[in-house]
Amino acid sequence: MDKFVIQGGNPLKGTLPISGSKNAALPLMAAGLLADGPVTITNIPLLNDIYTFNNVIRVTGTRVEFDEIRKRLIVDPTGLYHYESPYDLVRKMRASFYMAGALLGSVGYARVSLPGGCAWGPRPVNLHLEGLQALGAEISMDQGYVIAKAPNGRLPGGSFEMNPSSVGATVNLLLAAVRARGTSVIRNAAMEPDVVNLCENLNRLGARIDGTGTSLLTIEGVDSISSGEMDNIPDRIETGTFMIAAAMLPGSDITLKNTMERDLGTFTETFSKLQTGLEIGADTIRVQSGNTLPSVSVETAIYPGFPTDLQAQWATMMTQADGSSTVTDHIYPDRFSYVPELIRLGANVTQHDNQADIIGKSLLKGASVMSTDLRASVSLVMAGLVADGETEVLRVYHLDRGYETLENKLNAVGADIRRVTE
Ligand code: EPZ
Repeated sequence: MDKFVIQGGNPLKGTLPISGSKNAALPLMAAGLLADGPVTITNIPLLNDIYTFNNVIRVTGTRVEFDEIRKRLIVDPTGLYHYESPYDLVRKMRASFYMAGALLGSVGYARVSLPGGCAWGPRPVNLHLEGLQALGAEISMDQGYVIAKAPNGRLPGGSFEMNPSSVGATVNLLLAAVRARGTSVIRNAAMEPDVVNLCENLNRLGARIDGTGTSLLTIEGVDSISSGEMDNIPDRIETGTFMIAAAMLPGSDITLKNTMERDLGTFTETFSKLQTGLEIGADTIRVQSGNTLPSVSVETAIYPGFPTDLQAQWATMMTQADGSSTVTDHIYPDRFSYVPELIRLGANVTQHDNQADIIGKSLLKGASVMSTDLRASVSLVMAGLVADGETEVLRVYHLDRGYETLENKLNAVGADIRRVTE
């Protein structure tokens, strides 16, 4: 297992490239199974979750080629013959559950392992299953696997209102509905950029999805989705992560490249309360740390609200703010496994229910801390960047799932991070 050894105290100065979005790429990769021929997907990040999903898709007989230099994937389903996704792969990356909708939409049958939970608790898929049933799928369970069948090999389509709004369930239902026999309606659909990007790319290849970007999606089933190109979007969570890192490190001045600021939703407005220097360009975002760091409380919400995937990073920054603040997660109430680790570094944070109460400004001192999940890990790296002395962040394989060459990117703008293989 690898760890990071971080010497804290350096400001971040320079240019940081934003990679393609992990959470927008995975739906596009699953959508490749719906096409009549090879689909090329651009701007794919070199992340462990992408490699894992490549293998999940290959199990079906679909050809997947990853051009790591040009960061382009070819997904060619013409050899698709095996309609299953095995537990030993699905348990590694829960978005593999998208294979249920993709296989149902493509061949009318899917045998997909139920995903496990994750570091911070249960991750139910009831909305996925209820939604697929609403579209006409016959769902049964078999030894931890979901069996989904389309009557006569093709879903009739139907209507479903989801509560709460779910990104993953919206993706799965879209994948199942685009080639259904009839029309489908999804109410209270997720509006995250990952979903919008999937709709736009599918429509470009012949799908008929109406309402893109709204919570009411109407999908008129089509007989085929053509081969062609799908374009991935920049990673909005990586973007927000680096903006927060710059704001919390005095003397920082970074320019993010290849960004798509509109995908940040209300995050930008919330971020502007930090009184940093902030310049938004067409595909760049410049952040200069301010002379002070005011305490700003946040509550997570579905898009365009504050992303749950940025709450750990925000809480870490608030340990450096002048005054008290709270971070409340309404999406994942248990997503606070990073709090005990921040306390080990000297932060003054208490957590109760779905809220962290932070008292700044704490002088953080380097220590060994443990990663538990992707976004908790990056918040510990950020804490190490600001802490006095040396911080060890253990089990950085969590980071490698969702941040492309994080230590190289940060070291290129002044950080001092060494990856050590134990
Ligand atoms: C996606 O997960 C992201 N993952 C998560 O990012 C992100 O945190 C989450 O959306 C919320 O934005 C990917 O895109 C691969 P949800 P997903 O279904 O789709 C409840 C990261 O760090 N729910 O929108 O699983 C659920 O418990 C990851 O990159 C049900 O009750 O999230 C949660 O409270 C972590 N039943 C809420 O909906 C269901 O069937 C939103 O979850 C499904 C979800």
